Amino acid sequence: MMGDPIAVSKVVLILPTYNERNNIGNIIDELQVQFRNISHDMHILVVDDSSPDGTAEVVRKQQAIYANIHLLIGQKTGLGAAYIRGMVYAMDKLAADVVFEMDADFSHKPEDVPRLMAALDGGADFVIGSRYVKGGSIPKKWGLLRRMNSLGGNIVGRYVAGLYKVRDCTAGFRAIRTTLLKQVAFDDLRVQGYAFQVALLHKAVSLGAIVKEVPVDFIDRTEGESKLGLSDIIEFILNAWWIRLHSSKTFIKFAIVGLSGVIVNLGIFTLLLQMNVNKYLASPISIEASIITNFLLNNYWTFRWRKSHDHVSIKGLKFNMVSVISLVVSYSTFILLSVIFPDTPPAIHQLVGIAPAMLINYFLNSYWTFKNAPEFKS
Ligand code: GDD
Ligand code: MN
Repeated sequence: MMGDPIAVSKVVLILPTYNERNNIGNIIDELQVQFRNISHDMHILVVDDSSPDGTAEVVRKQQAIYANIHLLIGQKTGLGAAYIRGMVYAMDKLAADVVFEMDADFSHKPEDVPRLMAALDGGADFVIGSRYVKGGSIPKKWGLLRRMNSLGGNIVGRYVAGLYKVRDCTAGFRAIRTTLLKQVAFDDLRVQGYAFQVALLHKAVSLGAIVKEVPVDFIDRTEGESKLGLSDIIEFILNAWWIRLHSSKTFIKFAIVGLSGVIVNLGIFTLLLQMNVNKYLASPISIEASIITNFLLNNYWTFRWRKSHDHVSIKGLKFNMVSVISLVVSYSTFILLSVIFPDTPPAIHQLVGIAPAMLINYFLNSYWTFKNAPEFKS
């Protein structure tokens, strides 16, 4: 059964690569050194997406030196797609008992591999090399944007996808038992890029896996560059909301109410314009009208069962304040993305800004406006 400390025999470290010619040879060498301290049958599987820089050539040279190196060549369809291909291969073709996820760019230290392995041997099913537990770290020199990006990703993963208990749910350094992995239907994950990390972890948690976080230091790469793109961020956010949509009835209702608000907003706006009301007056009236209908629907439908001591007018006031906060959040996101990705169309920044705004909106309303009053036992 899952979680039992079974004697592990075959371990396959999956290293996805795209243009890692200057890293892959060295990391293979350093991993071999670490393998001497591990009493398991250790293998490396490089999943290279036909890197134009000739990464695969370097791997082939290493295959001539070491007997435990495997190479899987594919087309570039994203980090998640590469991991899925690698995991399926490791299970079906290499009969792995354990697989590792690990970056090929030295962001994850080879010296940490034995510690992750030990945690798995200690009974966990899913071990995470975590930057955000005590003892773990991100590079000191990371700028504000990089920190916020990483933090934002973790907040979305934890609070949108519902992985509250995990500190580092986007980490790409992991050890996973294949008894667990075999129960995952990879097709259902619907992800191609970096969103894979959260999607897989969420699946593991819902399957009842024992998750353990081991602190690691994340090191900045010195060779090559990161492959994370805006499309990865968008897929990441959509995937997290997708997971929530599937797991929360309250949230589905909240989302339906939100959509109805859009219709109310535009409907009243059109009506007022037809009545020859000035558009600069019609706009705020319509916005406020939709906030009020949203509030009433949430109060009498979405959160109907919540017991609150507040009068409905107080709750209405709180709901309005939350709407203002959402506006600030979505505008700040817009500004942030415009600075990080100046070449992307502004409409995309505006669209992505909805995600954190909705997060704040939902959580503040759920935990503040419509907060459940504790029941008093006499
Ligand atoms: N085969 C393949 N295909 N490999 C890829 C692809 C791809 O489309 N995209 C990235 N890789 C490889 C890189 O060559 C590298 O070995 C590893 O995957 C990580 O890619 P980086 O581009 O260096 O990722 P990062 O540093 O931005 O992100 C790291 O931190 C994230 C969390 O903040 C990684 O550890 C991610 O897995 C992690 O989610
Ligand atoms: Mn990296």
